[in-house]
Order: sequence, then C-alpha cells, then structure tokens
Amino acid sequence: MGILSDKLSAVKPSQTKAMTELAETMRAAGKSIITLSQGEPDFDTPQHICQAAIAAIQAGHTRYTSVAGITPLREAIVEKFRRENNLTYTIDQITVGCGAKQLLFSALMASLDEGDEVLFPTPCWVSYPEMVKLTGGIPVAIPTSVDNGFILGPDELRAALNENSKWLMLNSPSNPTGAVYTASDLQALAEVLRDFPRVWILSDDIYEHLVYGDVEFATMAAVAPDLAERTLTVNGVSKAYAMTGWRVGYAGGPLELIKAMNTVQGQSTSHTCSVSQYAAVTALNGDQSFIDEFRAAFSTRRDAMVKQVNAIPGLSCDTPDGAFYVFADCRELLGKATPGGSVLSTDMDFAMYLMESAGVAVVPGSGFLADGFIRISYAASEDDLTRAIAAIHAAVVQLTEATS
Ligand SMILES: Cc1ncc(COP(=O)(O)O)c(C=O)c1O
Repeated sequence: MGILSDKLSAVKPSQTKAMTELAETMRAAGKSIITLSQGEPDFDTPQHICQAAIAAIQAGHTRYTSVAGITPLREAIVEKFRRENNLTYTIDQITVGCGAKQLLFSALMASLDEGDEVLFPTPCWVSYPEMVKLTGGIPVAIPTSVDNGFILGPDELRAALNENSKWLMLNSPSNPTGAVYTASDLQALAEVLRDFPRVWILSDDIYEHLVYGDVEFATMAAVAPDLAERTLTVNGVSKAYAMTGWRVGYAGGPLELIKAMNTVQGQSTSHTCSVSQYAAVTALNGDQSFIDEFRAAFSTRRDAMVKQVNAIPGLSCDTPDGAFYVFADCRELLGKATPGGSVLSTDMDFAMYLMESAGVAVVPGSGFLADGFIRISYAASEDDLTRAIAAIHAAVVQLTEATS
C-alpha cells in the first residue's frame, strides 16, 4: 500500500510548470531552449515597489501579520476595487493570500461538500480542475469553441447547471486563450445564474490590466450587482505589477465566505510574507503608469506573434484580446511524421517535438483541457520571440505526411 491518498492520486501536477521545468533540465544539460511556456511577465518588478520592500525590512516589518493581511494593504485593496471596478467592500470583506492561487484554493476548501460540482469553461487554467479535486468537489468542464472566441454562452451554461452546481469559475482575460468577456457577455450569464440561486460565482480577474486595443475589462460583481452577494472577486499583483515571486493575491466577497477562507488560511499558511504585503501596498497605491508601458509592449508583441504564427503552415490562431498568450490550433499537424520517423499523434507529441527539434518550450492544449492546441506565451523578449517563432517554423516545415 502506497503513502498517497486516493484524493491525491487523482490530481495531476501542473503541465505549465512541468514544461518549464523540463526546459530548465534540458538547458542544464547544455541544450539551448527558449521558454515560451511561462505564465509570468518578463519585466522586473518596478524599482519603487522593491524599495518599499527594503524599507519594510529596515523598519522591522518582519513578524507575523494578521491572517487576512495588514490593514494598509486591505485599505489599498478596498480603494483599488472602488477606483478600478466600481465595487464597494468593507475592509473585513477583503482577504490577502499567497497569490490568487491560494485564495481560489481557500474559497473552494471553505465551501465544497461531497457531491458539489464546480463548473468552468474550457480551455481553462491548468489548476482549476485539480484544485477542485483536491478540495473535494467534482470538476465540470463546459467546452467552448474557437468559433465563438472561446466565450461561454448562456445556453451552454444553462445546460451544464443542476442542483449539485456550487460554483461557476470565470477567468477573463483567460489563461490560456486570452479571451475577454465583455459586460454584455457577463450580463447574459448573469441572467441564467439568477435562476440558480445556489450557485456562486468565482471571478478570477488576475489578468485584468492586460487587455488590448479598445477592449474593456468587466467583472461579474460590477456588471450584475444583485449577484455580488454570491460572487468572490479574486485578483492579485502577480501579472499587472510583475510580482509573481512575491506571492500576493487578494479577494473581495461576502463576509461569511471571507471569514471561512481566513480560517482555512489561518490553519495552513497563516498569511503571505509580511515584506511582500508592504510592497503590494506601494504597488496598489503608487504610480500606475508603468502598467500602460507593460501593456503597450505586450500589445506590440501580440500583434507580431499572431502574424508570425499564422504564417506557419498548419498552425493558426485568432488575435486574443487579453493576457499574454496565443492559443494556436495545431490539429492540422497531428498525424504528420517527424524527420526521425515518429508520428505526432497528440498536442503533447507536438510540444515535445518543438522542445527537442526547435528548442522552444510551449504548453500542450491538453493541459488546459483543450486537445489539439498549444499555448505560446509572449511574455518574453522580442528577440527571443523572433528566434523562437523562426525555429518553430523551421521545425514544422520538416514534418511530412505519415505513411501508414
Ligand atoms: C488564470 C490564473 N489564475 C490565477 C493565477 C495565480 O496567480 P498568482 O497565484 O501568482 O496570484 C494564475 C497564474 O498563472 C492564472 O493564470
């Protein structure tokens, strides 16, 4: 009998992390690999935020904090939600955790009983189904298609809901597709959710600031204020402020749920790092102008990537409205043979071929519950992106029809 619980044996490790780690192993073995599998900005954390952290250490802010987070940070979050999202929370309706990831986990842990179903549109972030399994719920994928821009429609939602449904998890802009829900997309879903009062909405807004062109970000609690009493809005500083390693996420929602999430966190990690919390205060209250600079750089890279990916025979993608990924359809390439004679049967085979032959790490779509796609991150330097796309192009044109 092994040591692992039945619950854990059903849980898969993250494929994005696995691809990035494999790239690192190959690099350590002397192979040149360009990593386009990562989910983090390639920019450095802005200097004024780093300085705030140094000042916090020097001021002795190095001890335990309250579970929900230091008061100045929760005040800054109340103000952020008011300023940017038109959402009103009191300070005790806010909690801070070790990244948005921990808050999603705590919310599920605090609310799921056996048999409860958690719905999410797919393609979805790799962690959603696994977190649901870990916290004792049943993950329910609602497939969306490339033809409707990977946006979940009201009829598909209605068809998936039943008396066991507990949560609908929405992520906009989406990882991995970059799809952004407009206010009217959310209104249409809200209309359905009003008929299912038991269902809560988990809005994962972590890519909020990464929307391009004239696309506008929208979030459920603001679009449908009558649903705010059963909506948890989750966000964090990782993506917008290039602070992935600092591990600061936050959530606003109904008091009863926030208190229960604090109990989960209080009995596990206690709170996120005190120094990181002070840095996050400066991030949220300080100068925001660099976000526009990040956004402009991502937008230029996105346009270049979309053009170059579509120029590769057998690969295609639409222009995503947000986040920093293109989700490319590789179905035409499946079934083809590599110069070494092996047949690419799955998106995983294709991703491994790109790693070995092109020296580029991408993530197979199956990790996001979407077979036949690859996710390419453009959170990398323009030079790396140009070299990577040229190498992918060269590897793809070497594929031939497989002889049966
Ligand atoms: C969709 C989505 N939600 C949440 C997170 C977690 O972000 P963090 O825990 O760094 O705040 C990520 C990170 O990749 C993500 O892609």
